[in-house]
Amino acid sequence: MIASPVLALFLAIIAAVNCKASKPNFIFIITDDQDLLLDSVNYQASVQKQFAQEGTWFKKHFCTVSLCCPSRVSLLTGKAAHNTNVTDVAAPYGGYPRFVEEGFNDKYLPVWLQDAGYNTYYTGKMMNGHSTTTYDNPRINGWNGSDFLIDPGTYVFYNSTMARNHEPFRNLPGEYSTDLVAAAANGFLDEAISAAQQRPFFLGVAPIAPHSETITNPRPARFLPPVPAKRHEGLFANATVPRTPGFNPTIPGTVSYFKKLRQLNVSEIDYNDDWYRKRLQSLQAVDELIDGIIERLEARPEVLDNTYLIYTTDNGFHIGQHRLPPGKSCGIEEDVNIPFFIRGPGVLKGAIQTIPSSHTDIVPTLFKLAGIPLRDDFDGEPIPVTADLLDASEKSEHINIEFWGDYLVEGNVFYGQAYLSNNTYKTVRVVGEEYDLSYTVWCTNEHELYDLSNDPYQLQNLPSSSQSHQSINGWSVARLKSRLDALLLTLKRCKGRVCTKPWETLHPQRNVKNLKDAMHQRYDIFYEGKQRKVTFDECAPGQVLSVEGALEPISWQEEWDAWSWAT
Ligand SMILES: *[C@@H]1O[C@H](CO)[C@@H](O)[C@H](O)[C@H]1NC(C)=O
Ligand SMILES: *[C@@H]1O[C@H](CO)[C@@H](O)[C@H](O)[C@H]1NC(C)=O
Ligand SMILES: *[C@@H]1O[C@H](CO)[C@@H](O)[C@H](O)[C@H]1NC(C)=O
Ligand SMILES: *[C@@H]1O[C@H](CO)[C@@H](O)[C@H](O)[C@H]1NC(C)=O
Ligand SMILES: *[C@@H]1O[C@H](CO)[C@@H](O)[C@H](O)[C@H]1NC(C)=O
Ligand SMILES: *[C@@H]1O[C@H](CO)[C@@H](O)[C@H](O)[C@H]1NC(C)=O
Repeated sequence: MIASPVLALFLAIIAAVNCKASKPNFIFIITDDQDLLLDSVNYQASVQKQFAQEGTWFKKHFCTVSLCCPSRVSLLTGKAAHNTNVTDVAAPYGGYPRFVEEGFNDKYLPVWLQDAGYNTYYTGKMMNGHSTTTYDNPRINGWNGSDFLIDPGTYVFYNSTMARNHEPFRNLPGEYSTDLVAAAANGFLDEAISAAQQRPFFLGVAPIAPHSETITNPRPARFLPPVPAKRHEGLFANATVPRTPGFNPTIPGTVSYFKKLRQLNVSEIDYNDDWYRKRLQSLQAVDELIDGIIERLEARPEVLDNTYLIYTTDNGFHIGQHRLPPGKSCGIEEDVNIPFFIRGPGVLKGAIQTIPSSHTDIVPTLFKLAGIPLRDDFDGEPIPVTADLLDASEKSEHINIEFWGDYLVEGNVFYGQAYLSNNTYKTVRVVGEEYDLSYTVWCTNEHELYDLSNDPYQLQNLPSSSQSHQSINGWSVARLKSRLDALLLTLKRCKGRVCTKPWETLHPQRNVKNLKDAMHQRYDIFYEGKQRKVTFDECAPGQVLSVEGALEPISWQEEWDAWSWAT
């Protein structure tokens, strides 16, 4: 007891010292279309050594739109795609010019970080439509130093086009894309480190591996397997797409175009495996890029000790799962559950977390770590990346995934089709301690519900299967669907706190905090009888609200208490 004032004083001094400590640096590495569930990171020795062993792996991290440009814009703004309304890779619904039109060139991560005293640097791909004709019209804001990969050379591994700072763009035939990005990153890192005493830094590094080699000129675009660096050709000669039950299954899916996909034949499977190996090979240069960055930091331990490093990607990728050709843009786990690793001060080493998180949470997380007040218009919330944040975390259990438009077929050699139509859908993932669920409503008004704890490859769509009488956690499919649909309806137009605490909108009394609470029988009448449903009038290529049915849910009212009806 006598010691406690002394202890309090001691703690106050520690706190004061902590406050004075300078803001942390950030190095943010983001690859392009990298899967988690096809095991690509298992082939990356440096990701394993420098991130999995030295930091924490968030295994339930999701992108909220499985497409490059919308995903990156959402990530960089901390906003859901329905709020950025940048929902595609090109006009009229997406691309760099839309990012500018929507005003985000003045309202996104690097601008905010500079305001908070940071030096900011970026190299590699920013977003689709950032091109030789748009990159200086207007220039993208917020970077002290930049060297961007721009279209049409963004995805040409040995013929990049880059634009550095205020200089005219340059074509770089014969040089390897990831090596160019690594060289630029190293240069910026040297600059950043030399000024780090005065100003903390953010360095974004965005190589395009393992994206397909994409030739956009002439149109239409052609998608080929990624091209590894010459020194990595032929590696992993025996690797194949993991033959999980989800790979080229004997039964097709039950909704939309999935129903129509036929099983892949032997030559198509060979083609898929070759594509897979080239992805793994192309990621080896990313490993070398990581090594270069770590080497520089290790030479300056005081900087390394004050730097958070993140490794992630923009969206996932599938190859042959559900019989699909190589590609993304689906709500399936392969496309949305993606790599996310972080290391740095206070982050547990060698830890694996299953707390759900998404790309919309990343900017709030960086703000939290940097001690910058969170903005009210963030649709995400800080991920508890440090031991301290973990202790205090009330991270919610749902992830809102959205998509508008078509499925763009990559690796279309055998399919001969450039698009699969009707790929507009809304998905909610709920990852709780007792359940792991994926619920989707398609623009065709078809529904999907998967119990991922028992069906990780999403082979049994519960509402349409013979198992629809089955119960999940003791809950019937119909009751569960009614809650998930209301959750999805709440999320589809949510802003700010409604996105992170949607149950408060459904239950303003705030006595329902998660799906489990909402499953209480007293709410059956409310959810099954009174609540509006997520519906579509048609499959629109963008966010056209007039065809998106009900836009907001109804809140619970006391008189719908099923318990009072029963008694
Ligand atoms: C980086 O840009 C910010 C905003 O323009 C500026 O205040 C800062 O001095 C710049 N840092 C360097 C090293 O030039
Ligand atoms: C490389 O890209 C430039 C600019 O897009 C183009 O003019 C040139 O033909 C390309 N070279 C090759 C070998 O494809
Ligand atoms: C690849 O497979 C062949 C034939 O099965 C085998 O001889 C070879 O040792 C394997 N190589 C590796 C690196 O596993
Ligand atoms: C697989 O299907 C494609 C497309 O129909 C066809 O061109 C190819 O010959 C088939 N391969 C085999 C081994 O059947
Ligand atoms: C898309 O869905 C609509 C129903 O909304 C259907 O009428 C149409 O045939 C579908 N198109 C394709 C290509 O499947
Ligand atoms: C999103 O942008 C598209 C294209 O400009 C526009 O047609 C649509 O109305 C917008 N939706 C919303 C919700 O702002």
